[in-house]
Amino acid sequence: MPESTSTAKTESRVALLRCIGCGAQHETASQEFRCPNCHDLLEIVYPDWTSLRSLELKRLWNGRRRSSQPIDESGVWRFRELLPPMPDVYNPITLREGNTPLYELSSCARIAGVDHLYAKHQGMNPTGSFKDTGMTVAASFARQSGFRWVACASTGNTSASMAAYAARGGMRSLVLIPEGQISWGKLSQSLDYGALTCQLRTDFDGCMRILNEIVKRRPIYLLNSVNPYRLEGQKTAAIELLEQFNWQIPDHVIVPGGNLGNSSALGKAFRELQELGLITRLPKLSIIQAEGANPLVRSMREHGGKKLVPVQAETMATAIRIGNPASWKKALRVLEQTGGTVEQVSEAEIALAKAEIGADGIGCEPASAVTLAGLKKLLKRDFVKPSEIIVLVLTGHMLKDPEFTLKFHRGDLLAETVKDADATALNRQRRPPIVLDANVDAILMILEQAEKASPTE
Ligand code: F0G
Repeated sequence: MPESTSTAKTESRVALLRCIGCGAQHETASQEFRCPNCHDLLEIVYPDWTSLRSLELKRLWNGRRRSSQPIDESGVWRFRELLPPMPDVYNPITLREGNTPLYELSSCARIAGVDHLYAKHQGMNPTGSFKDTGMTVAASFARQSGFRWVACASTGNTSASMAAYAARGGMRSLVLIPEGQISWGKLSQSLDYGALTCQLRTDFDGCMRILNEIVKRRPIYLLNSVNPYRLEGQKTAAIELLEQFNWQIPDHVIVPGGNLGNSSALGKAFRELQELGLITRLPKLSIIQAEGANPLVRSMREHGGKKLVPVQAETMATAIRIGNPASWKKALRVLEQTGGTVEQVSEAEIALAKAEIGADGIGCEPASAVTLAGLKKLLKRDFVKPSEIIVLVLTGHMLKDPEFTLKFHRGDLLAETVKDADATALNRQRRPPIVLDANVDAILMILEQAEKASPTE
């Protein structure tokens, strides 16, 4: 391999697995990625971090943009100095993930009443969600450790991503999903990429429980976000975001919360960048949940973050229909360290926000839209100021769940539960398809009506 894009001494670096509960450090992990002493989650730490301080990382990462090596074209492996070292670093399983756009959301900013609103669109990853950034790392480690099978429980995006990366890496994949509770788009991806797909008569939390038993009994590599290698890959979205801001630090980063891996990963990245001296302060990272799947919000409000009581999750934003999030302690630590907060949003607020993001020409899946809905509430609480710089992390692509969008515009989504005020705002965003005879005059008439109802400037 040419050395021009070489890895700056990463081969000699060490990565250890540290328990977030008792702090014990391990060189290897069990199949469930939990501490053998206290059963808490593990995180990856780099004891010789300080050796990186002398490197000009910002320049090194930027320089790799000009390389045509797969490892440099990947928006994850481009930042490999902050990833666990792989023995065969030039041979990851990559679909050129990452490299996702940062968009200004001007119409949404007007609606929310803020000056600077951006979307980091992680739905523009190869399989349509942020999961790819973690999957390239964890799947590569699975293959390097000799696993033939990988597996996950999923609300649909992890499974789509895992199935793709497993196929690219010549491994087989087992998917456990809750029957009838994930979108068709996501289910079809896992079938297309050749996974062994099991729809279980339970919810996501039930699928997770079963999978934890299965990996204890068979040599199958677990690819849920309890796997700390996934979170290392997901960190890179935060680095890329800061690069896109020319290393200016936004005031707020707002993310959806499900199993709470992504918020943990982004927070870890910001913390590490500060440790390395690449940034001087942290953006406030806030987490938004759906009202019907709000265990973290309840933990904070009812138990001061001391414990998490699982809930029976229910929301149309199926990606985040999770009642017992595995990474809640990691996420709490991020809230504490960055000074972020939690908020919850209703189904009507999610639907409205999703339509507003769509009308800005961007589009995202319902779970991602909780960010804009949450921002509106954080503004009301005065937690976010209108003049601050705000980034919404859009986690999934609009085409992941077209059924939600169609139902919304047809008026079939929310039925009777919507309050009058919400109904007016929702109706304003609805654009139901119109069935007409194939007739020029009929279309001209509709055009005129549309122009009258909402004149173009
Ligand atoms: N947004 C989307 C589109 C997701 O798919 C998920 C999680 C989240 C947000 C929440 O992220 O779990 O890291 O807090 N989806 C998982 C899955 C659970 O199986 O696809 P999190």
